[in-house]
Amino acid sequence: MRTPLIAGNFKMFKTAAETADYVLALRGLIAGRHGVEVMIAPPFTSLQSAAQAAAGSAIAVGAQNIHWEREGAFTGEVSAGMVREAGARFVIVGHSERRTLFGETDDSVNKKVNAAIAAGMTPVVCVGETLEQRDRNETLAVLDRQIKEGLDGATGEQLAAMVLAYEPVWAIGTGRNATPAQAGEAHFHIRQRLKQWFGLESSDRCRILYGGSVKPDNISKLIAHPDVDGALVGGASLDPKAFFAIIQGARTT
Ligand code: PGA
Repeated sequence: MRTPLIAGNFKMFKTAAETADYVLALRGLIAGRHGVEVMIAPPFTSLQSAAQAAAGSAIAVGAQNIHWEREGAFTGEVSAGMVREAGARFVIVGHSERRTLFGETDDSVNKKVNAAIAAGMTPVVCVGETLEQRDRNETLAVLDRQIKEGLDGATGEQLAAMVLAYEPVWAIGTGRNATPAQAGEAHFHIRQRLKQWFGLESSDRCRILYGGSVKPDNISKLIAHPDVDGALVGGASLDPKAFFAIIQGARTT
């Protein structure tokens, strides 16, 4: 049984103080509730205050990006060890905004996945097609390439502990989410590929999140598909009440 994971990607929103207030509000809401794992990924500058405010609660903290080297002359970059020391246990890798706006490639995704694992962190590896690729019927081929190259060299054991996120680019921040059938088709395909490449047991344990305009009113239908193991939530994660409503909607027990 895979425990559902609901992850909030704050993107470039919330200062350290705002993040601490948010975490205190969220932990009050989820106190004593089980059955769903919860993670928030605030900006780098908010990681420490998030981790402090979340200490002893069920809320885990993640970073939104890392550099793959441990240290070096890379102005403006931050390593896995640095975010880990600040309290992050997860790291989002290969988000489509990083791919389209900041030149992230499958090769850099692969290096970051390895760096995250080496630092003892859980990568949340994002994949997904653009609208043009969907219209050209290339969705499944794009997912195959992103997964094959992004996870190149990973072992079955590492895959099992990883999180993937299927995020169709056309559904991110647009209010236009994939239908449960579209999401289900992509998730099923990804699971089959993981089975083929990493074996049945590892593919069964790896969690695959859906992302793209997830809201309190669509989470239940999305997560009803057996291969959808949670959600990566952008806009709707910024309000603790809306995020909590999504967590509630993901409860399967
Ligand atoms: P959204 O973002 O929920 O605002 O569409 C999702 C994401 O970018 O991970």
